[in-house]
Formats: sequence, C-alpha cells, structure tokens
Amino acid sequence: MNKNMNETIDRALSLYENGQISKAEKLCKKILRTDGKNIHALITLGNIYYIQNDYNSAENYYKKAVSVADDNYPAMANLANCLYEEKKYKQACNYAQKAIDLKKDDKLAYIILGNSSQEIDNIEEAVSSLLTAVNLDPTDSWAYNYLSQAYFKQRDYLKAISCAWKAVKLSERNENAHHINLGYLFYEIALEEKIDSMVDCIKLWVKNYKDNPIVNYMGNALLNNQKIKMADTQYLQNIFDIFSTDFDSVLSGLDYKAPALIEKMLGDIYKSNKHPRLKILDIGCGTGLCGKFLKSYSKWRGLDGVDISEGMLKIAKTKKIYSRLIHSEMISYLQKNPKTYDLMVAADVFTYVGDLQNLFEAVYDSLKKNGRILFTISENTQNDKSYYLHISGRFVHSLEYIKFILNKSMLEIEKVERKKLRNEGENNVMGYVISAIKK
Ligand SMILES: C[S@@+](CC[C@H](N)C(=O)[O-])C[C@H]1O[C@@H](n2cnc3c(N)ncnc32)[C@H](O)[C@@H]1O
Repeated sequence: MNKNMNETIDRALSLYENGQISKAEKLCKKILRTDGKNIHALITLGNIYYIQNDYNSAENYYKKAVSVADDNYPAMANLANCLYEEKKYKQACNYAQKAIDLKKDDKLAYIILGNSSQEIDNIEEAVSSLLTAVNLDPTDSWAYNYLSQAYFKQRDYLKAISCAWKAVKLSERNENAHHINLGYLFYEIALEEKIDSMVDCIKLWVKNYKDNPIVNYMGNALLNNQKIKMADTQYLQNIFDIFSTDFDSVLSGLDYKAPALIEKMLGDIYKSNKHPRLKILDIGCGTGLCGKFLKSYSKWRGLDGVDISEGMLKIAKTKKIYSRLIHSEMISYLQKNPKTYDLMVAADVFTYVGDLQNLFEAVYDSLKKNGRILFTISENTQNDKSYYLHISGRFVHSLEYIKFILNKSMLEIEKVERKKLRNEGENNVMGYVISAIKK
C-alpha cells in the first residue's frame, strides 16, 4: 500500500471516529474505487451502515471484508453482530464461532454466540459462551445481564437472579435496564413458582435502591404493596423504550387483541358511516396499532397520538399514520387540551393507572360535547376491591368501580363487552371493552 493510500485511510478512520459519518463514507468509497479489496475501507463502511441501523448494507460490506481476509477478527465479529441484529441467528452463531477460532480471548464474539444461541434455544451453548465472556471480563454488567437470561431459560433461577443482581451492582450508573431485567426475572419466576422464596431478596433490592423510582415501583408491585395509585412515569418510559423495537412482534405472540376489539366496537357504533370526520386522540398510542384503523375515521380533522415513551413514538412515526405525535404523560396532556377531541381511544393503557378519578376527569375536560371514549380495562379477579396492583406492575379493575368512576366523571356508558384481551403465561387476561359518551 503506498503512503498516500495509508494517509487517506487514516483520514477516513479519523473522520469516522469523530462522527463525520458522511465524509468518512465518501472517502471510504473513493478508496474502494482505487483498491476494491481495501479491508479498512470495507470494515469502516460496514460500521458506518451498522450505526445507522442499515444492517443489510452493513452485512454486505462485512461479508466483502471477510471474503478478502478470512483471518480478520473485527470483520468476522462485526459480521456476526450484524447478523444477530438482523435476527439471522444461525448465521450469527456460525460467524461468531469463526471469530472465536481466530481470537480466543475477546469477549465480544462469545457474547454474540451466547445471545444468538439463546434465540435459537440452544441454551447450553448460550450459558457456556456467556460464562466464558464473564470470565474474560468479570466487570461487564451486560455479559452478566445476558447470562442471567440464559440461566432463567435453563430454569436455574438462583443463578439467574444472582447474575442479574451482579449486573445491577456492576453498572456504575445503576443502569435502569439492569434493574428492569432483575425485576422481570423476579416476576417471571413468581409466575412459575411461589414468590415467597424470593421475598427477602426483593426487600433487599428495594431497600438498597430506595431512591430509584423503577426499583420502588417494580419491587412494591412484587411485594403486593396495594397503596400505589399509578405506575411510575420513569418506569413506564424505561420499559416501553426498551420494549419498543420488539413490541409489535411480542404482542402478536401474546395473542394481543385490544386494538382489534376497539376496532370492532367502533365499527358497530359507526356502522355504515365509515368516514365520520372526527378529531381523534389515540391515548398511549404506542407503536400505532390502533392508528391503522383510526385513520379512516379522522379524515380532514386529524388523528393525534400521545405517549410517554419516545421509543414507542419513534416506531409509530415510521408508520406515517398520525397527524401529530405528542411525547407527554397522558393526564397532563389532556388537562392542557380542553374540549378538543370528538373521539378518544385507549387500548391497554389505563392498566397503568389504579385510581382512575383524575384520568377520567381529564378525559371529560378534553372531549368535546357528545364526544366519545373507547378503552380497554383488565378485569380484577384477584380480590373484591376497586383495583389491584398485579405483580406484573399492571393494575386490574372491577367493572363496578369503572361504572362508578365514569358516572362520577359525567361519562355515560354506551357499550360494555367482556372479552379476552391477551395471554399472560398460560392464562388468559380477561377484561372489558367500554365505550362512554360525554354527557
Ligand atoms: C401496552 S401499550 C399499548 C399501546 C397501544 N395502545 C396498542 O394497543 O398497541 C401501553 C402504551 O401506553 C403508554 N402509556 C402508559 N402510561 C402512560 C401515561 N401515563 N401517559 C402516556 N402514555 C402512557 C406506554 O408508553 C405504551 O406505549
């Protein structure tokens, strides 16, 4: 390689490292026009597309890099990582194994092999690779986090909790994702076994991190603390941000029916009037599953979506359904927008609020006269109270309470249907689809 070429590659790399991505991209492509097999330009282009989530282009460049130099560890490991992101788990395992064969002392390839193996249910391989990763770097909180999930799938709950706990302790900034992982493991284990064996551990978690609102909320739900009236906003933001990219696929796996049930009830109400030109608010719109069918009801007047999670809104935006997407807590948004909407829907959202008084007052204020709200609510089969905070962190409500609170908020019930909303573990979650009108 001549001196000029070396300097050009150095320049491209430093542009990439300094975040000047489009300049780095141009320079790498220029290098490839002279030297089509330049390994540095190929890997850097792969990295450039990878960080922009263009995994298909990244894969092509990494594959070219690997075909030019099949002994290049970064090319091999980055290709494996990219295939993992593309959910091509078997291929990811193959390339991660090849990367390990090239370099036995780097944790990255073991983590990719471990995580990809988990996805194809090769749990033994997952545990073994992730154990190697934590042995190579015992300070890596994420390697412990992944290992905790592999142990959980192996039904080795004690090891799962101890690794998730270690991840929490290792993360310097007490990364909330590690707390959420630990909380979810407690919850999943509680669904399968008795929670009693873990109560002391959960109490210690809540005590040690008493200033963390997410730990407080998840821990107290697990400990059956019924004084809580509403889900913590930081908890909601965090779980739905983390969940957002997989939301649509995970929910279809849970046989999630809330949007379809609301669509059906809307159809029954509006019958042949298919385009009633309503100004609509999708409360807790998430990734936009309700937006799809609401659009035809909102011609000309507009369809707004409000949600507390930026991650969920980002996915909704890509679907190009909504006139406006608003990042806000729902009650405060409703309070700031009086007499604005003809129709509101809320699919599987009010389950994050226990005491519904303030919420329905705000709904009333924000609806126009004769405006309508359609929502789902999960049924309280746990006790005879108005609402109950389930260990999952979601509230369930009694129908009597809903009727009482709607009446108190001057919202008249139009229709109530008892339906299955989704699965939870082996069980059906039953609930109500309700339509009410502002008097
Ligand atoms: C289970 S998802 C349902 C999403 C969507 N309605 C659907 O059916 O696909 C609940 C959504 O409500 C949002 N959410 C929960 N509590 C909220 C609040 N207090 N304010 C605004 N959004 C909230 C969450 O961020 C999440 O996107």
